Amino acid sequence: MKYYPLLFQLEARRCLIIGGGRVALRRCKTLLSTGAKVDVIALAIEAELRQLLLESDGELIEQPYSDALVSHDYFCIIAATDSTAVNQQVGDYASANRIPINRADDRSLCDFIFPAVIDRGPITVAISNSGGSPVLSRILKRQLSSFLPEGYGELSDFVGRQRALVKQVLPAECDRVDFWEHVLQGAIAEAVFSGNSVQAQALFDQALAEPDRFRKTGEVYLIGAGPGDPDLMTLRAFRLLQQSDVVLYDRLVSPEIMDLVPARAERIYVGKRRAEHAVQQTDINQLLVEHALLGKRVTRLKGGDPFIFGRGGEEIEKLAAAQVPFQVVPGITAANGCSAYAGIPLTHRDYAQSVQFVTGQLKDGSVDLNWPELISEEKTLVFYMGLSSLPVICESLRSHGMADDMTVALVEKGTTREQRVVTSTLAQLPQRLQQLKVSSPSLFIVGRVVQLADKLSWYPAGDVNNPDKRRT
Ligand SMILES: C[S@@+](CC[C@H](N)C(=O)[O-])C[C@H]1O[C@@H](n2cnc3c(N)ncnc32)[C@H](O)[C@@H]1O
Repeated sequence: MKYYPLLFQLEARRCLIIGGGRVALRRCKTLLSTGAKVDVIALAIEAELRQLLLESDGELIEQPYSDALVSHDYFCIIAATDSTAVNQQVGDYASANRIPINRADDRSLCDFIFPAVIDRGPITVAISNSGGSPVLSRILKRQLSSFLPEGYGELSDFVGRQRALVKQVLPAECDRVDFWEHVLQGAIAEAVFSGNSVQAQALFDQALAEPDRFRKTGEVYLIGAGPGDPDLMTLRAFRLLQQSDVVLYDRLVSPEIMDLVPARAERIYVGKRRAEHAVQQTDINQLLVEHALLGKRVTRLKGGDPFIFGRGGEEIEKLAAAQVPFQVVPGITAANGCSAYAGIPLTHRDYAQSVQFVTGQLKDGSVDLNWPELISEEKTLVFYMGLSSLPVICESLRSHGMADDMTVALVEKGTTREQRVVTSTLAQLPQRLQQLKVSSPSLFIVGRVVQLADKLSWYPAGDVNNPDKRRT
């Protein structure tokens, strides 16, 4: 580690900047945001910098740099002129007087550098690649920022206000650590993040009043993992997954998403292929309750969205009955993910004014649906779980009046690298299916919007060595 991030208290400390351009302006803004006092020596000065100094009572010396102008004991000096010779002279002065120096023109001559900073109230995250590339640091900052909810500052304040009380109620350090772990990663933190401080306080008071019970009650996160591409998971899903002790997942959760499960978490596969449930639904419900009652944070990870053909409602009904706290994190349902990645807008002013999600699952060998209600030129239909019943679905739609030339698409393993999109017409698809080996999971889209797929397809899915594979 070339530079170690020390956090300095700069309030009321005097700092000197030599130079009056854009870099000087940026540094001045950063320093003023910490409460430091900033003076500037520069011949030419940006108007905004001049204004900042005026407002902050900083001294501005509009003269060529000379050591004699440095009249205070400065805490640090920043040489930000565009002259190497002047920066060198400033550097020599700083070294001779043991004042830490930052040189904008040469990081190897810096005593300190400015990191990219994520500021969340009292929480500060400093990012540096040792001055290698400020742009890279800024990109990293943007990425990391998205994982740190704005509410972390408030959470930190909230915790700070309760510390003395918790110390009094739980004198043993190990009890306190345990207690804080639960507070900071459970329903109380989530209430703070959603801006509900009254609920957060009520939950906190309740937890502190009965710390034993609190520790013993876990929580369940019903998380929608989206249709396959891990980038489609929400930040909230990712955050809750990271703090899970146990993860119950089914077949539709892609291996790339399972790679995001923390290594320490126990993984329980509960299957869910049609007619091949590794674990029965009632047993899944029971497992969720049992693990939560052991005080664990349990994630129930489901493909797509938990409330769209996902039986998520049944699972949380059981949790509610057993008084187990839970949260639901929506996911991108297969219809949204597959259609977007196939270039098929589900609604379009010219082609479809509504969209309907339908189950294509067979019941006693037939698909039990209100067919007349489904027939419309201006509607898009999305059939889930319809692969094995596809010939029956196509035939039923036709016999109830849908046009033979209605455009249809079958999206296989949508949003993943193996995505394949088969487009055809209602009349021809069953025959084409006999030639193509389409496998599960697949989604069937029926509607005039499908004709846009050729024009709007954008996702470069499939085997890179076989680009033709993606659209058939
Ligand atoms: C039991 S349903 C679960 C749906 C899920 N809860 C959702 O919101 O997407 C399973 C069906 O979703 C569809 N499906 C899920 N993921 C898919 C994917 N990546 N590509 C195509 N279809 C998918 C298939 O029709 C599959 O049979």
